Amino acid sequence: MTDKVALTGIKPSGVPHIGNWLGAIRPALELANRPGTRALYFIADYHALIAVQDPVALRHMTYDVAATWLALGLDPERTVIYRQSDVPEVFELSWILGCLTTKGWMNKAHAYKAAVDRNQSVGEEDSDVGINIGLYTYPVLMAADILLFDSDYVPVGKDQVQHIEIARDIAQRVNHLYGDVLTLPQAHVVENVAVLPGLDGRKMSKSYGNVIPLFLPPKQLRKLINKIVTDSTPPEEPKDPDSSHIFQIYRAVASPEQTQALAERYRTGIGWGEAKAALFDVLDAALAPARERYAELMADTAQIDGILENGARHARIVAQKTLGRVREAIGVGPVRIG
Ligand code: TRP
Repeated sequence: MTDKVALTGIKPSGVPHIGNWLGAIRPALELANRPGTRALYFIADYHALIAVQDPVALRHMTYDVAATWLALGLDPERTVIYRQSDVPEVFELSWILGCLTTKGWMNKAHAYKAAVDRNQSVGEEDSDVGINIGLYTYPVLMAADILLFDSDYVPVGKDQVQHIEIARDIAQRVNHLYGDVLTLPQAHVVENVAVLPGLDGRKMSKSYGNVIPLFLPPKQLRKLINKIVTDSTPPEEPKDPDSSHIFQIYRAVASPEQTQALAERYRTGIGWGEAKAALFDVLDAALAPARERYAELMADTAQIDGILENGARHARIVAQKTLGRVREAIGVGPVRIG
């Protein structure tokens, strides 16, 4: 049986937090290590360009996500990791796919629709104001990322499922016109994944400003954990672990035995200070090695470049094969004999 290809793109964005780790990075790394899976995970720097137009920030964020994934256990010997911008074949395929994509599909894409709605809600006469073509055709570039590698599975969050469906529609259209050229991809939405509460109890999210960043020094990590909101139940009173934000985060990181033991402490009565200390201990133990590796990589970005360039070399071998097949099928370039 041939291996299945799992591919995902990671958009460089602000400081990665423990919600990103437990909700997206950890499950994607688990998938990459499954037998029978060949994984390609890349940094979608050209997707970020639609919004990040500060060169220093873009470069820094690109290193930041690469270092984060590597520090958290992505093994470049096993999983191909590369920078999207190092694989020019993506952009050639993107043009080709754009010519086969109906404009109406783009009009319906969530991110574009949301931008139009925002303009309309503030009474803009031109509902496309401030919307760049990159945002509009974002799903086409994403389809190129995916279809170039004959991806079978695309691990993503729910918000990206529509994009994978568009990629699939585009592939189907290509195959309908030119024969069996492209592999149809499928979204792989990780179910039952921890949705973590943030410091204020709402979902941990950058937009709420309630996150716990991944690689804080221990002292700051402890300080932040102490800020998690709790109620005024007295320490000795029995508590329900499942309704405690501290416990929800703890459970996502600790072993089943540790989790059971802490649940027991809740039921017999635990002070919030003790619960927070327990959370700090598991988080710090889980993250200490990654923190060190992250710092080491960020202090030596040439090391990251080496890993990414090596990944791109591998990726381009596959990319060139697919692109050759596509060019042949659509009638571009000289006739290939044999
Ligand atoms: N759009 C994705 C996000 O915002 C990132 C991404 C770019 C991606 N290209 C991709 C994801 C290809 C999966 C496959 O997170």
